[in-house]
Amino acid sequence: MNRTPIPVIHDCDPGHDDAMALLLSQAAPEIEIRAITTCCGNQTIEKTTYNTRRICTLLGIDAPIGMGRPGPMLQDPITAANIHGQSGLDGPKLPEPAVPLSTLSAVELMAKTLEESDEPVTIISTGPMTNTGCLLLAHPELKPKIKRISMMGGGIKHGNWSPAAEFNILVDPEAADIVFRSGVPITMAGLDVTLKALILEADIARIRAIGTRISQVVADWLDFFYEFHRKIGYRGAPLHDPCAVAALLRPELFDMQDYFVQIETQGEFCRGATVGAQPGKTDQAVVPNATCLMDVDRQGFVDLIVEAVESYEN
Ligand code: RIB
Ligand code: CA
Repeated sequence: MNRTPIPVIHDCDPGHDDAMALLLSQAAPEIEIRAITTCCGNQTIEKTTYNTRRICTLLGIDAPIGMGRPGPMLQDPITAANIHGQSGLDGPKLPEPAVPLSTLSAVELMAKTLEESDEPVTIISTGPMTNTGCLLLAHPELKPKIKRISMMGGGIKHGNWSPAAEFNILVDPEAADIVFRSGVPITMAGLDVTLKALILEADIARIRAIGTRISQVVADWLDFFYEFHRKIGYRGAPLHDPCAVAALLRPELFDMQDYFVQIETQGEFCRGATVGAQPGKTDQAVVPNATCLMDVDRQGFVDLIVEAVESYEN
């Protein structure tokens, strides 16, 4: 039965795994990308925005692109050239952008997209949550037009950029705090699941064997992204950001548990931690504010990625 596709806004900091999240959304008939907004994270806002426009050119994504702020709400930017390279999307050569940048800022484009939609829109957030936090502060009246925020970030059990904090949250803890206090339904794809959503070398070879131009670009992206992780002992590259999309497309692939998640914005060692409590597990009575992905059928997830790459003709 053909269901109406769900309208989404992608908020991202490409980033190799952000690129894979956009590829998955664009390939899915169940999703309609209404807008893309960029944030400062893996690289500077200029680089993540340039990368977004190149990805959209490569994949034929026809959606307005709004550029975000030059940094997080309060602290100085933290970028991840050690993982994504100086460009933020090192590896294969990509086409120069053939899609324009909107004259609207990220937050203005988010607000316009929500206002103009006949139905609530899902925000897929795969970078620091600066734009979504600013949107909620500037337009509280638009909260009912946000169906859900499906985000990659955090980790109930541990961090990655610091022992306590995952990168997307650590870059802008204040923004994440605003989002998790907002009451908007949240699906949290944290490190608990994304470190299990590994793409192995054999999976990358499977993608390269598809033989199309896009499959070669994807395989080169994944080879580059795996390089950092291989050196620190991973048996595959963790496809963090596509989990936030896959949870919308194939929820049956995931183990999901409800948590009350609070963001640590203070602390010398724990700033940016996502502290999760479950009803009945602590003395304090808690009401969950997030559905957290805690495990994944890795093979089913990889098959979804491969099928998406196969769906691109060139
Ligand atoms: O910690 C992983 C997250 O940080 C991913 O979204 C990756 O793209 C980086 O933004
Ligand atoms: Ca990202």
